[in-house]
Order: sequence, then structure tokens, then C-alpha cells
Amino acid sequence: MGPRILVTGALGQIGTELVGALENKHGQGSVIATDVRDGTGCQILDVMDAESIHSLVSREGVTEIYHLAALLSATGERNPELCWKINVEGLENVIAAARANGCRVFAPSSIAVFGPDCPSIAPQFTPLNPTTVYGKTKVVSEQLAMTAGVDMRGLRYPGLVSYKAPAGGGTTDYAVEIFHAALAEGHYTCFVREDTRLPMMYMDDAIRATLELMVVPAEELGGARGGYNISGCSFTVGQLVESIQRHLPNFTCAYEPDVRQKYADSWPNDIDDDVARGEWGWNPEFDLDGMVDAMFAGLQG
Ligand code: NAD
Ligand code: SER
Repeated sequence: MGPRILVTGALGQIGTELVGALENKHGQGSVIATDVRDGTGCQILDVMDAESIHSLVSREGVTEIYHLAALLSATGERNPELCWKINVEGLENVIAAARANGCRVFAPSSIAVFGPDCPSIAPQFTPLNPTTVYGKTKVVSEQLAMTAGVDMRGLRYPGLVSYKAPAGGGTTDYAVEIFHAALAEGHYTCFVREDTRLPMMYMDDAIRATLELMVVPAEELGGARGGYNISGCSFTVGQLVESIQRHLPNFTCAYEPDVRQKYADSWPNDIDDDVARGEWGWNPEFDLDGMVDAMFAGLQG
């Protein structure tokens, strides 16, 4: 018998791709996709509803939960109380259902766990002093992974770049929006400065990292298991623009930084992922140009 998988927040940027990848790996019918929103192939499940999570997990014999429901950094800073509720209390509800039913849990962390005191290339183990509520909720998530009494794992995803679903209210959304604007308008007005450099990752690498982490025997995972650093590619917006201009030479970009600049400035420029490479063999495939080529192939295909 293969795993029986519950995905929360399945209609979001990651869930849109992770559900298909899990079905390809484990078979059609192995995945129960859920979200608080209505969508094709998705059941309604609010992660604030502990009783509904528990009864679905127990009724369906769920063995693994990929918990993607969350508010991201920009949305979270606009409504910090709701961000804390959904990201922390929602996770606690998922953990309680997992503990009662013997499930394993994947709960993503983020580069947002780091704060301004972090070195520009973020080490795996360093003080975590995020300035955003979103970042604080991810620190709590990593801590719960070590203490929750369930097999719970996470990755500190960089900003994720993909074409199948829109990015969901994060600071790194510019690296997705820019492609749509480039193709539709030939121009993008970016909400962070041209020299802003952040760790990013193409979605295919993020999905592969997720699947790879979840097959590692628990005893091989060390103190980073709540949130492994994984690097993809790190670039400035200016470098992204230049790479896009290989496809669209007339593309232009203007810069009108807003409050999200502050969140971006509080995060590291790059990620040291030696621990993930050493413990479970992480290795990214997409560099900046490879990612940009894949985005154009996907959007124009
Ligand atoms: P997203 O915003 O695109 O999707 C989140 C989904 O959660 C949405 O479909 C939303 O409807 C759903 N949701 C919100 N409240 C809910 C609730 N109460 N109950 C059930 N569902 C609810 O986010 P994403 O980019 O897919 O991110 C998924 C996870 O990965 C999050 O934990 C996020 O913090 C993390 N992450 C994402 C990125 C990124 O760049 N996308 C980077 C780092 C970490
Ligand atoms: N991409 C996310 C955000 O910008 C980081 O977790 O919020």
C-alpha cells in the first residue's frame, strides 16, 4: 500500500504543481487536495477547523500531510493577527491530527526565517531574528518540527518562480509577475530596487527537493529537519531583466519600491545549503538563464 496523502492549501502556487507530482509518484487517487477556496479537483478544508481536519484524516486513512496553507509575507504583514492564526494555529491543528493518526508531515519554511543580523550568505545554523510576522511563524514551524512528536520535515524555500499558478502575496512575487508583464506589456514596474538580490528557485527544483526530502529515513535527518536551507539561484532584479531580454530584447523595467523592499532587505542574498547537500544529496538543476528559459517555454508553450 502506498501513502494516502492530504495536501492543504492545494490551490496555491506550490500546491498547483505538488499535487500532480505526488499523483505521478504515488498514483491517481493517492492525493486528497484541499483548500479553503473552491477549485477543480479540490475539497474545501479550512485549516482553522481542527475537527474537520481530524475527521478527514481519520476517515480517509491519511498517512502523509503536505501542509501548504498559509499567508505569505506581504499579505501577512497587512494582517499580522490573521497570519499568526493561519500559519501557527493552522499548523498546530494539522500536527494534532497527524499525531492522533500517525501521519508524517511536510510543512514548508522560508528564507523569511532570517533577519537583518544574518550573514548575506545564510548559514543553516544561525540566530533567527526575522522582522516579519510571517518569518516569525516560520521559525515557530521549524521549532515545532523538533518537538511535536510526529515525523515533521521542512525546507526553507527561496522565492519560488513558476508559471502554472500566480504567486500568492509574497515579497518575491516580482520574480513571477515580471514574466507575465514582459509578455503582455513589454514592460514591468518592479516594487523592489534593481539591485535587490534574493535567493530564488524554479518550481521544478522546489518540487523535486520536497519529494526527495520526504523519502529520506527519519534517522538520517539531523537538527535542520524542520527547515533545510536549499539554494536554487540567487540574482538581482537587474540580472533577471537582462536574462529576460535574451528572449525579449525590447523589454523594459522601471523601479518603484514599496513596503516590500523593507522585507526583501531583511532577508539574505544567498543560501548556504551544505547541510542539505550532505545529509540527503540536495543539488539544484536550474540556474538563472535555465529558469528564465523554462518560464518562457511554459508561458508560450
Ligand atoms: P499561496 O499563497 O500560493 O497558496 C496558499 C494557499 O493556502 C492558497 O490557495 C489559499 O487559499 C490557502 N489557504 C489560505 N488560508 C487557508 C486556510 N485557512 N485553510 C486552508 N487553506 C488556506 O502559497 P504558496 O506559495 O503555495 O506557499 C505554500 C507554502 O510554502 C506556504 O507555507 C508558504 O509560506 C511556503 N513558501 C512559499 C514560497 C513561495 O515563494 N511561493 C517561499 C517560501 C515558503
Ligand atoms: N516567497 C515568500 C514570500 O515572499 C517567502 O517565503 O513571502
